Amino acid sequence: MPFSDYRTALVTGASAGIGAALVEMLTANGLTVHAVSRNAARLEALAARTGCIAHALDITDPGAVEAMLAPLSIDVLINNAGVSRAGDIATMDAFGVDEQVDVNLRAALHLIRLTLPGMMARDCGHIVNITSIAGLYNFSGNTVYHATKAAMHMVSQQTRVAAYGRRVRVTEIVPGRAETEIFGKVIGDMAAAQRQFYDGYESLKVEDVAGAVAYAIGTPAHVNIGQIEIMPTFQVPGGLNFERRTG
Ligand SMILES: NC(=O)c1ccc[n+]([C@@H]2O[C@H](COP(=O)([O-])OP(=O)(O)OC[C@H]3O[C@@H](n4cnc5c(N)ncnc54)[C@H](OP(=O)(O)O)[C@@H]3O)[C@@H](O)[C@H]2O)c1
Repeated sequence: MPFSDYRTALVTGASAGIGAALVEMLTANGLTVHAVSRNAARLEALAARTGCIAHALDITDPGAVEAMLAPLSIDVLINNAGVSRAGDIATMDAFGVDEQVDVNLRAALHLIRLTLPGMMARDCGHIVNITSIAGLYNFSGNTVYHATKAAMHMVSQQTRVAAYGRRVRVTEIVPGRAETEIFGKVIGDMAAAQRQFYDGYESLKVEDVAGAVAYAIGTPAHVNIGQIEIMPTFQVPGGLNFERRTG
């Protein structure tokens, strides 16, 4: 069980949704887990529940991230923090572009840049990137979100190349719709998001996504699970629009 090969993990976006479930899963498997996000109160509650170590900071602040990592040796990095904003590139405001690129892509690149060399030197590590079906398929919605997730798909592939010859594994987890706070934050109304996106749908539970990560980590050390797409059975990507011009 490679869980026993690892001592420490760092999970971004740990205060809610999939991230909190990942912390639960990793601590239950005996790892010392560093839980990162901005909401200090939620992280403290998670720490009280799981024994994780809370780091309340904004991952888009490179100085704060470097200071946190300086004394740490991280075996498992999970880039999970993510934001989405309403609108495509024709309607998105400047903040929406910058925030999504900064959280979903730039911060993750820095975290990999800062942790991968240690993993390679120790010949032991695992990087897990939580991307999205938005990175693999085109469907109506947010241009920037799709772009950042597609970029993280290639970051996952290229990190494997960067780590060539070392016992460092890289896994991309590609979820479809999961029941979390993400849509409520997009539309600014948790109850409305519950009605619009979750009521009556059999969405993924956060434990389903955490279970996929547990499988990837739990495989023998010589096995690299490169990508797991995990979707609700009743959610199917694909489709094609063809607008008819008449007159
Ligand atoms: N839910 C879905 O349907 C779905 C589908 C596919 C992929 N995903 C992906 O799954 C991942 C987790 O999303 P979720 O659904 O669990 O969303 P969520 O419930 O909204 O949680 C997002 C997490 O990201 C953290 N975060 C946001 N900005 C941050 C920042 N600047 N610094 C530090 N932490 C930050 C939030 O914590 P703070 O606010 O406390 O900072 C929160 O813990 C994301 O990458 C998302 O794109 C979700």
